[in-house]
Amino acid sequence: MKYTQGMLRQDALKGKTILITGGGTGLGRSMAEYFLELEANLVISSRRLDVLKETAKQLQEKYGGKVLPLACDVREIDQVEKMFQLAIAEFGAVDAVVNNAAGNFISPTERLSANAFHTVIDIVLKGTVNMTMTAGKHWIGIKQPGVFLNIVTTYAWTGSAYVVPSASAKAGVLAMTRSLAVEWAKYNIRSNAIAPGPFPTEGAWSRLLPADLANKFDPAKKIPLKRVGEHQELANLAAYLISDFSAYVNGEVITIDGGEWLKGAGEFNHLEQVPDELWDQLANMRKKKS
Ligand code: HXC
Ligand code: NAP
Repeated sequence: MKYTQGMLRQDALKGKTILITGGGTGLGRSMAEYFLELEANLVISSRRLDVLKETAKQLQEKYGGKVLPLACDVREIDQVEKMFQLAIAEFGAVDAVVNNAAGNFISPTERLSANAFHTVIDIVLKGTVNMTMTAGKHWIGIKQPGVFLNIVTTYAWTGSAYVVPSASAKAGVLAMTRSLAVEWAKYNIRSNAIAPGPFPTEGAWSRLLPADLANKFDPAKKIPLKRVGEHQELANLAAYLISDFSAYVNGEVITIDGGEWLKGAGEFNHLEQVPDELWDQLANMRKKKS
């Protein structure tokens, strides 16, 4: 058994229709792939229909099943509502929504234009609000249970320099996740989040580690487990949180980062750099004193 393998039983998502924003690329695509393998129906959505269509084609060829690609800019409520209605028209219902679409880039904050800041906030926070309100109101209206899974990141609670729009927006998404977990539990709607550490994707790496930065700042070096994440690990966790196996998990944010953020937080974690010989010397000094 390896962490690069699928975790759940074959039919774990059978009969469920799952809508993934940003489902044509990166982690969204990897989640889509595993959900399809677990026999879910899928709606994948983002701005680029050509990318979505190609992903849908490739996944269906590999696993069979049904993947509906729908163009939608999550910043636009009209587009979100239309996309959601098209999904229902195709499958009869949507059972779960993965708010995965995001925009991000690195920059000193004082160099950002107002539009640059707003663009990221609009995709990440407003986009998640639009999707959540559309699906939530629909589920409540017809008394249908539902599941939200929001992809955040660990700096949603620590904050992070140089990605301030993203950190501000992800913090908002996390607050919304926890708030609605309580408020909408009475409607049988669960809300959870995943906070990934670094998982290599073209979208994230090209924007957060552009040019030579990927060589200069190898993300694996910052991580106690000394490696970046494997997409299947995240897909396993996501599938569990979507599935009925997690029926009692609500309002949780699960970190999957190899211990990265805690390494930055612990007061004495830097003592990892102290070699064994120095620990021996310190022990000897202590013994001499006593
Ligand atoms: C400063 C920038 C910028 C940059 C764009 N802008 N890129 N400012 N540094 N690198 C500014 C532009 O100049 C413009 O402001 C404004 O932002 C909007 O830019 P557009 O290109 O017009 O926006 P748009 O076409 O809507 O594209 C959105 C985008 C783009 C966010 C800028 O990168 C995108 O489409 N991203 C989607 C995918 C993505 O970002 N994936 C990575 C997620 S990774 P002005 O003032 O000039 O009009 C992630 C990981 C987190 O979230 C955790 C990792 C561990
Ligand atoms: P990615 O491939 O760039 O994914 C982002 C997706 O969002 C793309 O498919 C993009 O498609 C879509 N998108 C962007 N703007 C949109 C808009 N306005 N409307 C609709 N869709 C839009 O990057 P990723 O690394 O897989 O990121 C996926 C999620 O994981 C994000 O929430 C990110 O914050 C989170 N995350 C990633 C990492 C990591 O290390 N990779 C770490 C922590 C958190 P279009 O361009 O076609 O619209």
